[in-house]
Amino acid sequence: MRELKGTEVARSVFEDVRRRCREFVDKTAVSVHLAVVLVGSDGASQSYVASKGKACDEMGFVHTDIRLPDSTSEAELISVVEKLNSDSSVHGILVQIPLPKHISEHRIAETIAPDKDVDGLNPVNLGKLLLGQSCLVPCTPAGILEILSYYHIETKGTHAVVIGRSAIVGKPMASLLMNKRCDATVTVCHSKTKNLAQMTASADILVVAMGKPLCVTRDMVKPGAVVIDVGINRIPDSTKKRGYRIVGDVDYSAVADMCSAITPVPGGVGPMTIAMLMKNTLQACMTQYGEHNCR
Ligand code: GUN
Repeated sequence: MRELKGTEVARSVFEDVRRRCREFVDKTAVSVHLAVVLVGSDGASQSYVASKGKACDEMGFVHTDIRLPDSTSEAELISVVEKLNSDSSVHGILVQIPLPKHISEHRIAETIAPDKDVDGLNPVNLGKLLLGQSCLVPCTPAGILEILSYYHIETKGTHAVVIGRSAIVGKPMASLLMNKRCDATVTVCHSKTKNLAQMTASADILVVAMGKPLCVTRDMVKPGAVVIDVGINRIPDSTKKRGYRIVGDVDYSAVADMCSAITPVPGGVGPMTIAMLMKNTLQACMTQYGEHNCR
């Protein structure tokens, strides 16, 4: 069994982005600039946003963090995004989700200019992804492809099963895997799927984005499968000082020895999301400056 170390893959992406950013800045004197908008005071979101800022600093990007109160209306948030759309010094815009209930995430994703949409959630980018055209791709599925490619894992002709149908992971993941570059045959499972274990047991590549701790058990995995665990769940653990530990959606200790390769949690898919955000931000900036050799 090979452990697919996202931390190592992310480090190589960060190095590549940092080097290309330096070359781009030397050539153009343009500062790559990401704007991150956070609405409300959710603790996990605050720490994600802080990590994104730190990564920008490390890449040599400029970043602007905009913090808005929970009481912000949808119209107010739209107006903040529109201002960022028309600010030519800003190349990437990310609105942290989840948003408060009274704001539609779809409405906000639609508002972000497609060429600044570093989350790849605008319908134009998701549509292009479905058509197999070049576009900004949601960071987590893009990071999973990067892991597969780094470890030379063959996808062509395989049966890939994706558990989860969210716009940010499941749907784009399924598109990427079925598109020309990967050439997999894809099955998408979700909360209403019958006989889930039977479906997953036929997967050569199993991507799990259920958001439920330790749900994928030994009987659900085909011997020799490649298992990609997108889950990041906190479960109570009194032996830890902080009172919890982080586990994936896959029961790693039960499943690992029967896989040909598996991502650990933490240190698997998680670190790739920020790495790909950096890559997308540089790509967005370079595309806005007419450079297309950015992948
Ligand atoms: N919340 C958790 N992950 C993400 C992400 O990748 N992008 C945004 N915008 N919000 C998130």
